[in-house]
Amino acid sequence: MPEDIDRVEELIDRERMKEKDSDLLKIIDGVFDKSTLMALYDLVNHGVFEVLQGVISTGKEAHVFRALDKNGDYLAVKIFRTATTDFRDSIWKYIDGDPRFTNIRKNKWYLMKLWAKKEYKNLRRAYDSGIRVPEPIRVSGNVLVMEFIGDNGNPAPLMKDSPPEDPEETFHLLIRYLRKLYWDAELVHGDISEYNVMMWDNPVLIDFSQGVLKRHPASAPLLRRDIQNLVRYFSKLGVETGDPMDIFSDIVEEGD
Ligand SMILES: Nc1ncnc2c1ncn2[C@@H]1O[C@H](COP(=O)(O)OP(=O)(O)O)[C@@H](O)[C@H]1O
Ligand SMILES: [Mg+2]
Repeated sequence: MPEDIDRVEELIDRERMKEKDSDLLKIIDGVFDKSTLMALYDLVNHGVFEVLQGVISTGKEAHVFRALDKNGDYLAVKIFRTATTDFRDSIWKYIDGDPRFTNIRKNKWYLMKLWAKKEYKNLRRAYDSGIRVPEPIRVSGNVLVMEFIGDNGNPAPLMKDSPPEDPEETFHLLIRYLRKLYWDAELVHGDISEYNVMMWDNPVLIDFSQGVLKRHPASAPLLRRDIQNLVRYFSKLGVETGDPMDIFSDIVEEGD
């Protein structure tokens, strides 16, 4: 299907990207293998977005791009990269034992797709429970499309770069998010830190690919670690957080 790939290449706004970031095309060449191009084409074909405009973040496991839909609104497009051996080993523990994902083969493309789908499903559960996360829009292959958090194509800052004005209030709000996530979405995020909270109208939780269901065997240690990370960060800002173990008990105990 080489014609399809040509059409996707046309949808990448190369001139615009060159202006904004000269390294971008190098990144694109590394990211967009044939399967990724097909996933992007599928999304374009379904009218999800029209053009990829530039890179927001290049992580070890995923790249995040900004895209424009036909109304000129921005979307965030997260493209999971072909797995390195390290990555495959590190994600395996999150998928293995999750009752939603049985019969998994240790195949790298399959795992990338699974990872994208897992983030989509986790975001959907969280979003439907009323927790402030990017609204998931669609997933195809290793590509996840979601609501853009920010303004005019500029992503909102991460909490690490933009500490909250009222740390005490934000800390309690984030703990309430974790509780709501646990009881209403039945999820534990598993990678909460100042790097995965964006500061927008309210704090927005992102990066749900490693989230696990409450009933997953690793959910309790992961929740403890999420709490520890928030306690560490907010203590430094002078918040009297209380004991992480007490917070853990408060979260996992039933009732309001
Ligand atoms: N929905 C979004 N809207 C705007 N920017 C986003 C969105 N999701 C992620 N980003 C940006 O991309 C970065 C990486 O996203 P993240 O999901 O945390 O992936 P990683 O696995 O690379 O940490 C974030 O730190 C944030 O700056
Ligand atoms: Mg992240």
